[in-house]
Amino acid sequence: MSSSKTSSGPNLASKVSKLFKSFKKDLKDEEKPALQRQPTANRRSAVCAEVSVPEETYEAKVFPKSEAARNRLQYCLRNNYLFTKLDPEQTRTVIDAVEEVKYKAGDIIIKQGAPGDCFYFLEDGKCEVWVLKPGKTTEALMKTYSPGESFGELALLYNAPRAATVKAITDCTLWAVDRVTFRSILLHSTSSKRKMYEKFLQDVPLLKSLSKDERAAISDVLNVEYFDAGENIIIEGQPGEKFYLLEEGDAEAKKGGNVLMRYKRGDYFGELALLNKKPRAATVCAVTKCKCATIDRKSFKVILLMPPTAETIGPMKLKCS
Ligand code: CMP
Repeated sequence: MSSSKTSSGPNLASKVSKLFKSFKKDLKDEEKPALQRQPTANRRSAVCAEVSVPEETYEAKVFPKSEAARNRLQYCLRNNYLFTKLDPEQTRTVIDAVEEVKYKAGDIIIKQGAPGDCFYFLEDGKCEVWVLKPGKTTEALMKTYSPGESFGELALLYNAPRAATVKAITDCTLWAVDRVTFRSILLHSTSSKRKMYEKFLQDVPLLKSLSKDERAAISDVLNVEYFDAGENIIIEGQPGEKFYLLEEGDAEAKKGGNVLMRYKRGDYFGELALLNKKPRAATVCAVTKCKCATIDRKSFKVILLMPPTAETIGPMKLKCS
């Protein structure tokens, strides 16, 4: 557990880097290559996902589809972390804009290193993801996709070349979302949240050493939770899955009836269980009504997943604000 008292000073950057390292270590093997192939310096420019696609150049596409197909797509969107924050109208826009595409067994759907044109939902069939790692001459199989899963987001989100090759291993039916629709919808939906959290995250001592883009990436994955005075935010002994930033109110960490730590706006807690993969070391209780911005374990990984150089993108580069 930490408060701003203990988290300020020159060791801040190392704390953040330790946090990041720990989450990196935690990644499943299949998630690692994208991360590993980029040095941290590049991650900074790459998380600049705020795009300014001029409104007038974005024309919503509508590809007619059956009600059953719309329902299946709705289900896919609801279960994909990228789309869970969309409002109903944005969800409808994405569903309208997806186009059915078919590939034969053996076809290459995405080629590693190519520019990213579409994001795909797999409707039917099986695909494999292959990655050619630096210094290797043969590709390694990273994972297999089944119906309901999706891929192709990395190149679109980070304006980067494709990070892997995706092959159809049976005949496949997919739904493709073009890059302009994908970026306009997803990135516009995050911009207001970024503005809302920009100032708060700047004032959080733990995050001061991060770049503006890294803070923007964090604001994209924040969720808000409210607690009443006296309510437990974290319970000692329980597994830790979230990291908390105190946005409003006062809280305290207790163990065996003793107060270990007091928290105020801008302080953070809940990192120990995430770092050590141990149960919560203390109970954190809201002293007054509290508003907490929370970041789940998976989102931390997602922030780290990737980030290619903005410089590698050349002609496909969209304006970053
Ligand atoms: P993108 O880089 O746009 O195109 C290839 C896609 O493969 C990538 O986005 C991810 O959606 C998916 N993928 C799955 N596993 C990996 C992996 N280990 N490394 C890179 N990409 C992966």
